[in-house]
Parts: sequence; structure tokens; C-alpha cells
Amino acid sequence: MSCTLRDNILKFDRTVPRYTSYPTAPNFEKKNNIDYPVLQSSDTISLYIHVPFCQSMCWYCGCHTKVTKRYDPIAEYVDFLLKEIQLVKSHQQNKINVSHIHFGGGSPGMLSSKDFERIMVAIRLNFNVADDAEIAIEIDPRGVTDDRVIAYAKVGVNRVSLGTQDFNDDVMQSVNREQPFELSDRAVKLFREHGINHFNLDLIYGLPHQTTDKMKRTIDLALSLDPDRISLFGYAHVPWMKKHMRLIDETTLPDKILRLDLFETGAKMLEDSGYLSIGIDHFVKPNDTMAIALKNKKLKRNFQGYTTDQSNIMIGVGASSIGKTEDAYFQNHVDMPLYKAAIDDGRLPLFKSCDITNDDKIRGEIIERIMCDFEIDLSDYSGDYSNELQHIQKYEDQGFLNISDKKIKINSNARPIARLICAAFDIYLPSETVKKHSQAI
Ligand SMILES: C[S@@+](CC[C@H](N)C(=O)[O-])C[C@H]1O[C@@H](n2cnc3c(N)ncnc32)[C@H](O)[C@@H]1O
Ligand code: SF4
Repeated sequence: MSCTLRDNILKFDRTVPRYTSYPTAPNFEKKNNIDYPVLQSSDTISLYIHVPFCQSMCWYCGCHTKVTKRYDPIAEYVDFLLKEIQLVKSHQQNKINVSHIHFGGGSPGMLSSKDFERIMVAIRLNFNVADDAEIAIEIDPRGVTDDRVIAYAKVGVNRVSLGTQDFNDDVMQSVNREQPFELSDRAVKLFREHGINHFNLDLIYGLPHQTTDKMKRTIDLALSLDPDRISLFGYAHVPWMKKHMRLIDETTLPDKILRLDLFETGAKMLEDSGYLSIGIDHFVKPNDTMAIALKNKKLKRNFQGYTTDQSNIMIGVGASSIGKTEDAYFQNHVDMPLYKAAIDDGRLPLFKSCDITNDDKIRGEIIERIMCDFEIDLSDYSGDYSNELQHIQKYEDQGFLNISDKKIKINSNARPIARLICAAFDIYLPSETVKKHSQAI
């Protein structure tokens, strides 16, 4: 990338949402009575199950989770998940069809094999899970055991997202996560031995002590595991929201220039190795379903990031989970006692929601298409976007994108600024100084 283009990208960097939804989560409102949607028998949904527990706190972590050294709180939580699954079912007239199931966290890999099986049995009992459903789980390589992997294979897990982050010991130690490469290597082999072959590796750039040489080492080792997908997330440092991030010595964090170098180094190595760049942070093998979805303009974005999931309806189960219909977002209590109290009362544990207006739907689609395709023809959407086009003119002037009539096309070397372009279409985004989000780059 030329110096001027780089300098200009950095000049425009500011805090913006990651646009995994529109309106974004800070716009969800607390409400006392939230009407839960009644779905049609023809609807096919995705199910998200949140497990907010971890064995220790990684200081960079931005997720809803809590450290527990004992299994009791997790065992107790599983009982609530099972009750919640039944409550969800009891609000529906029909048994709902499910095409995607995603276990996220926190660390769903902390569930015992027995509890994981119990949850999957409950899901299959209360929903119609499609034979070819994608059943995915986020896995911390440090907690992988034989009996768990056997249980995942038995109940039909077919995709694993492995939280590898970085393969340099000093980087990982500086964020309170001891995780030698051998753990990931062993985990991948174990999953493959049991027939679970679809892998995503999560990597992060922007962590303390990272250098481009260390990034090269991480990518080399990641490639040796031969995953179908690699996510290269920019570290979102938001210590005003996540207090444990204050434990990170900020003087050891890469500056903006190094962050961009780290991303570009990783991205180039992955592309040179045959991976296709997808969206702002994914790299996939050319025959991966995500590459095919992108080609067919069917790639989507949801709370878990880029997805091939075509369903517009998601039900979230577990504390802090977010669900969605075509008309609204719903979020469960984040606070564990409130979450449990609602379920004990026989109420769905919802505490926030956000209606999606017609204008939100259109803008949400525009934002999703920009985040996925990096191009859009605004004449396909109703509404006048002349102000937005005027606003992003400055990016065209810098060579980041081309605007012709109502068509916007982001240049491939300016992908890091996609979130900034989406921000022009976000009518809820407060002033640039409000710290709710992370840096775009
Ligand atoms: C919810 S975690 C689940 C994975 C599992 N608990 C683990 O850490 O292996 C999903 C991924 O989010 C990413 N992540 C967490 N905090 C982040 C942050 N502040 N900025 C960027 N990525 C982050 C990490 O790559 C992590 O693997
Ligand atoms: S990164 Fe994963 S293991 Fe670490 S604290 Fe966050 S959710 Fe837990």
C-alpha cells in the first residue's frame, strides 16, 4: 500500500461500531414488558447459546463472561439453559425449524461432555433441527479433552472456531493467557480424528508486544493447521467498558501504524497461501462455503460476525444473548441473578429490545452489503442518500473508493475503512468523541 494511502487511512480512523447489527447494540433499550415474537411454522431460525464462563480472564477479552474455578456455577447455569429452551418452545405454537446452532461465550468448551449432550438433546426435543444443520462451537484450545470431543462428534457438532489468538508465548503471557502452539495442534488433530473437519482459527492483531515478525510466525503456524477459515480480528481496546483491559500495559500495545502493518502482513501471507479475503477480517479457502456465499452475494453478517447463515431470525438463549426477528432485536439479561430470577418466575429473561423500523431495515441492508461485498448500488434501495454520498466524498477524494452515480465500490486496498463508510449510513451514531466503540482500524 502506498505511503499516502496508508497515512490517509490512519488519518480517518475513529471509533465506530463493528456493524454486526443495525441498529447497533448500544441503541437497544431496557423495557419492562417485551413481547416475544410468535414465529410461523414455515420459519427457519438460527439458535445462539451463550455460555458466560471462562477458566481465567484474558485481559484483551471483550466478551460477556465471568471467571469460575469451580464447575458448580456452570452446572447450575445449564439447568437454567434447559428451562429457557423449554420456555422459548412454550411461547411458540409450532415446533420451530432450526438450520444453524452456535455455542458461543465465554467458553462453551467448559461445559462437561454430559451437560453439552443434555443441552443438545433438549434442543432436538424442542426444535426441528435440520439434518444438515450447521452446529458450531467456539473452543478455547486449553480446555479440549477427549471425552468432550467425543461428545461433540456424537451430537453432531460439525464446525469449530478455535481461539488461537497468537502463537507467540510472550504475547500470550502478556495478556494472561498461557497457550503454547502444541495445545492448538493437539486440539485440531483430536477434532479431525473424530470427524469434525471444519475449522476456523481466531487470530488477533494489535495485542501487546506483537511485531510483524511475530505475526509472520503466527500465520506460518496457523497455516500448518490447515484451517478452512481464519479470522484476523483487530484488537478492540475498550478499557472504559471492560475494566480488566486496564491490566494491559498500554505502552506495549502496537501503535496505529504497526496495527495496520500487522494486519497487512497477516493478510498478505494468507492471500499468498491461497486464502480469499472476505469482508474486513476473514480469510477462507476458495472452496469454502463462505467464499461461495460471497460470490453469490449471499454472505451475511450477524452477532457472531460473517456467516453463511441465511436465516433472518435468531433466537438467543443464555445470559446476555441477543436474538432477532425481521422487526426487532431482543436481548437477555446480562446480570446473572436477574437472568435466573426471570426463568424461575417462568418468564423469558429479556431485558432490552429494539424495534427495527422500515428505514432501519433498508439502512441495515445497505450496511450489511457494504461490510460483505464492499460495493453497493444505492439505486436498488428506496430513499435519498445524497447526504450520505456527500459525506463519503472525502473518502473518494483520497482514493479509497469510487462513486459513480449511486454506485459505491471500495478499493481493495482500503478495506480497513469499510466500517467508516457504513457509519455514514448510521443515523444513530453519536458524535465522534463518544467512546462506545473501538477504533475502525
Ligand atoms: C468469545 S471468544 C470465544 C472463544 C474462546 N473463549 C477462546 O477464547 O478461545 C471469541 C473470539 O473473540 C475474539 N476476541 C475477544 N475479545 C476481543 C477483543 N477485545 N478484540 C478483538 N477480538 C476479540 C477472540 O479472538 C476470541 O477467540
Ligand atoms: S477470550 Fe475466550 S477464554 Fe479468554 S476471557 Fe474471553 S471468552 Fe474467555
